[in-house]
Amino acid sequence: MVDFHAHILPKVDHGSDSIETSLKQIKMAKRAGIKKIVATPHYYDNKESLSEFLDRREEGFRNLTNALSSYNNDIEIIKAAEVNLQTDLFKNDLKKLCIGDTNFLLLEMPMNLNWSSWHYEAIDELIALGINPIIAHINRYSSYYTQKLFKKDILFQINIEAFLYFSSRRNVISLYKNGNAHFIGSDIHGCERNPYEKMAKYKAKYTKMFNDFELNSYSVLNL
Ligand SMILES: [Fe+2]
Repeated sequence: MVDFHAHILPKVDHGSDSIETSLKQIKMAKRAGIKKIVATPHYYDNKESLSEFLDRREEGFRNLTNALSSYNNDIEIIKAAEVNLQTDLFKNDLKKLCIGDTNFLLLEMPMNLNWSSWHYEAIDELIALGINPIIAHINRYSSYYTQKLFKKDILFQINIEAFLYFSSRRNVISLYKNGNAHFIGSDIHGCERNPYEKMAKYKAKYTKMFNDFELNSYSVLNL
């Protein structure tokens, strides 16, 4: 399995406060059969410059991969970001925030704000710039807002949390059947909860769906 959304880089965001936490997260992932983790620390353009973020991400990535090298580790970590959609974002070279060497960008829509026409137009602008947005945890937003997104030619990631309750699980199945769910992510923060156990559990139950998520992930990652 590929975890397409994870906060596992040490001290880059609130997802991991230390190398030890990151190693525990990766141990849980490995036990559940995860082979690749797309590391997606939060990027908020109003909080820090892109170059500061990239420096911090590089340091976290280096520290983690160094620590993993002594563990005979076979999980691949891919550098990416969970990019919050903000008005000033476009002043940056957005390719630097894309997943690995791809043109795909994990984009977080506003959680506590109303979406305006600008938010939809911004997605079109990203596409015009050659960036393919993948909307992060599409299960978390109101369908009032997402309906308009589904008309666009873009991809969507869901969080494993969406499988945990009957109504949200029903919603995920409907998203998937309608071609609006393409990737699965743990969105892991810290190591107190183990979302990877849930990924393994629901993969066993919805094998075709999870296999499709995996194929989509490999396709985007050019593997
Ligand atoms: Fe996240």
